[in-house]
Amino acid sequence: MALQASSLLPPSPSARSFLGISLADHAVSDFSPRRRVRLGGGVRAQTATTSPSTTVSSPDAKKTLRKGTVIITGASSGLGLATAKALAETGKWHVIMACRDFLKAERAAKSVGMNKENYSVIHLDLASLDSVRQFTDNFRRSGRPLDALVCNAAVYLPTAKEPTFTADGFELSVGTNHLGHFLLARLLLDDLKKSDYPSRRLIIVGSITGGPGGPAGLAGGLNGLNTSSMINGGEFDGAKAYKDSKVCNMLTMQEFHRRFHEETGVTFASLYPGCIATTGLFRSHIPSSGSSSPFPEVVTDPSLGKSGVYWSWNKDSASFQNQLSEEASDPEKARKLWELSEKLVVWVKILERDRERERERDALVLLVCTLCKILF
Ligand SMILES: NC(=O)c1ccc[n+]([C@@H]2O[C@H](COP(=O)([O-])OP(=O)(O)OC[C@H]3O[C@@H](n4cnc5c(N)ncnc54)[C@H](OP(=O)(O)O)[C@@H]3O)[C@@H](O)[C@H]2O)c1
Repeated sequence: MALQASSLLPPSPSARSFLGISLADHAVSDFSPRRRVRLGGGVRAQTATTSPSTTVSSPDAKKTLRKGTVIITGASSGLGLATAKALAETGKWHVIMACRDFLKAERAAKSVGMNKENYSVIHLDLASLDSVRQFTDNFRRSGRPLDALVCNAAVYLPTAKEPTFTADGFELSVGTNHLGHFLLARLLLDDLKKSDYPSRRLIIVGSITGGPGGPAGLAGGLNGLNTSSMINGGEFDGAKAYKDSKVCNMLTMQEFHRRFHEETGVTFASLYPGCIATTGLFRSHIPSSGSSSPFPEVVTDPSLGKSGVYWSWNKDSASFQNQLSEEASDPEKARKLWELSEKLVVWVKILERDRERERERDALVLLVCTLCKILF
């Protein structure tokens, strides 16, 4: 589905800045994330793909379960890698490891003994919206259908004193964990819609921060009236930026469910994997405990096919539908976040195009000047 018309309107004066990025007064034209984006410039895509092993199109063929294709972001370590390994080992899934460090991902896959036939690595840097678009193009070029998407990657910078920013100028935690995944999921929804797999799923990994008693998160935020790097306009706080990003992840999952579940049949869900201190995210911040990944179940288990749900696991490893905090389940907040996020990913593209036009104009002026010098 194309973007809502409202998201193509210039932001209201009250939404001139967000997460430290200033939304200048540029006219909004016909950009839509569905348009093909040129390759080249920005992050170079690196892909290693094997040819699609399955094609099923007739309704009868649906009954025979073909090999599914799942994209997992941040599959180069921690829970993402554990999930990639578990799904690849079943032989029923081809895993696309969507990672920013191609060699690290290849080494990681090798280190856990993943069979090359069961995975591919495609470059994705979620801290660059251009890279997200390139990834989508490259994935489509692989010719594979998309049956499941696991938005797992995350950055966590609790000890940072100063904010750092994505290629597009957003605070890194919210820019990567939320906006990068927002654009990715938004673009790939069309591919999930096209899939004939019996159960198509879009999983966005959440956190306990969205559970009862969680932090203030987005309270007071999203008004865009400030120039702060934080979503609520406050002082920079790395731990809170991560928590905010996770609340955004959970709000986004619910808004996807509200907008698209009935129309598409795709299952949208979030989960809390438990506190696993041995992964890269927390290793340097809290003492170690042990590690495993409940993600594969959320992708494959028919009993976890319900949409709009936030899954958790109890001490006996039994899954249950967890309660989201008031804040992380506020439909009005989810709607606002969605609309603002759509505007932001569109605006970044417009700003980039304007910069490109300026560069082209400068180059043209230089060429004309040079020609004039030569001729006269
Ligand atoms: N571990 C826990 O206790 C816990 C608790 C609650 C929620 N979670 C959630 O579980 C998920 C996985 O966390 P984890 O503990 O497995 O963390 P992890 O081991 O640090 O893995 C994070 C992954 O994200 C990738 N990544 C970071 N920035 C990226 C970017 N710009 N573009 C693409 N990939 C990027 C990393 O890639 P590199 O390898 O290149 O760095 C890495 O593969 C996260 O969503 C996290 O919020 C974890």
